[in-house]
Amino acid sequence: MTTTSTARYDAASQVFHWVTAIIVTIAFILGPGGFGRLMHDGVDPATHSDIVWHESLGLVVFLLTALRLTWVALRPAAPRMVMAGWMRSASRLLHVALWAMLLALPATALLALGSENHPLTLLGGTRVDQLPLIADSTLAKLADWGDVHKFLGDAVMWIAGLHAAAALYHHVILKDGVLASMLPRRRTR
Ligand code: HEM
Ligand code: HEM
Repeated sequence: MTTTSTARYDAASQVFHWVTAIIVTIAFILGPGGFGRLMHDGVDPATHSDIVWHESLGLVVFLLTALRLTWVALRPAAPRMVMAGWMRSASRLLHVALWAMLLALPATALLALGSENHPLTLLGGTRVDQLPLIADSTLAKLADWGDVHKFLGDAVMWIAGLHAAAALYHHVILKDGVLASMLPRRRTR
């Protein structure tokens, strides 16, 4: 389906997109540096609000992504802009990478906590001291999941930055409707 440059994502897709982008950015800013050292020193992560907020927001991103993917399967077709083939392929590649990151970030975080027997500490005093299913899994032993998680945490911001720069290039240089497709319609009097 080819549509005009005024085509937009539906309102739910737009809300999912911007709420996720904001929460991922806050979770990134709160990314707990020196976590391994704190754990080694026997510090309870529940006493560090950056860790508690980071883990809670990160899990919210996971829930939002699960709901959003369900919505993607049910929603009206996403707008398909007229653009060069290579540009469409690049955009698809970035989208796939972003979706993968949104799922891999929480997964690697849980693998990191479970494999090292660190507690999951969330807002409201919720905590899970052990994640035995993860700790006993073969997957847990395959990598230093904390390092993988940190790498992906940085990577998601680089990829999102590239994706945002592409959206701005479309808006400012190509002057097409790509950025507008993810923005609410302006009211006309
Ligand atoms: C949007 C999702 C997330 C992003 C962008 C993100 C990003 C990051 C980044 C950049 C770091 C490294 C910080 C540094 O070393 O300065 C980090 C560390 C960490 N994050 Fe996340 N994270 C996300 C989700 C989660 C979730 C869901 C949890 C827990 C369930 C979590 C738990 C942790 C832990 C425990 C560390 C320390 C890892 C270590 O040093 O071994 N993160 N995160
Ligand atoms: C962490 C930050 C971000 C993430 C994870 C992210 C992720 C995504 C994903 C997965 C899609 C596909 C949406 C769907 O099919 O429903 C998308 C579309 C889009 N995003 Fe983002 N995004 C982020 C930040 C941004 C920013 C900062 C901008 C603008 C400056 C932006 C502009 C757009 C636009 C215009 C589209 C629709 C057009 C297209 O790329 O096909 N995004 N984004």
